[in-house]
Amino acid sequence: MSKDSTDHGSSSESDQDHGRSAVGALGNLNAQQRKEEQSKTLSSRRRRYGVLARLLFVSLDAIYGKKRNLSKFKVLELVARVPYQSWEQVAYIAITHVSDRVAMAKRIHDRVVESRGQQDNEQWHLLILEELIADWQIKEGYFKFTVLPQFIAFVYYQVSVLLYIVRPSMSYRLNADFEDHAEHEYMELVAEHPEWEEMKFHSTLGEEYGHYESLADLFRQIGYDERVHKLESERHMKEPRFR
Ligand SMILES: [Fe+2]
Ligand SMILES: [Fe+2]
Repeated sequence: MSKDSTDHGSSSESDQDHGRSAVGALGNLNAQQRKEEQSKTLSSRRRRYGVLARLLFVSLDAIYGKKRNLSKFKVLELVARVPYQSWEQVAYIAITHVSDRVAMAKRIHDRVVESRGQQDNEQWHLLILEELIADWQIKEGYFKFTVLPQFIAFVYYQVSVLLYIVRPSMSYRLNADFEDHAEHEYMELVAEHPEWEEMKFHSTLGEEYGHYESLADLFRQIGYDERVHKLESERHMKEPRFR
């Protein structure tokens, strides 16, 4: 089923309720709304990134270059799932400790469910990129694009857990910075490729992530997903601890 055939929600409502669509993409937007969301991103300022986020972005630019390309976005997506995995793990441990307080355990479980949804969403991004990279026969070095990203993800996981244990708001802030960066990078990637407006997008993941008018339309949706992730982390920055 086409996403566009069932799209009704306004972007502002979607931003507020972080709506989940029937498929893995977020927000129930149609193609025109996705264009508006891209303009919104491109006309908005980036967050003031913290030291750790800046260190990560500078390192990624140093290793993978400043130029935006699919292989670099694949690396970003590999890393993007990690904070959600770390929060899910910490939340399960917390549930074990408060299992005699069922209401609280249930609230923590709600966070687990949210983290799982975000991980799945990042995973569709990753798999779509993998599919495109294979279709376009883009050559990637095994060490640089398979081994090294996993090492970066491993380190990022430890940092995310440590921050979460010391002060959860710091872990959410790091992720909000990461997601803000991803949102802007995707929307700028689309702006850099006007030819993608006419390029059809076919995927074996249509059932899972939806169908899109063009490659540009697809990447606008991914950029919008990153915005939703950012907003969720910004919300948790204000109420970081389980209660
Ligand atoms: Fe993503
Ligand atoms: Fe994201």
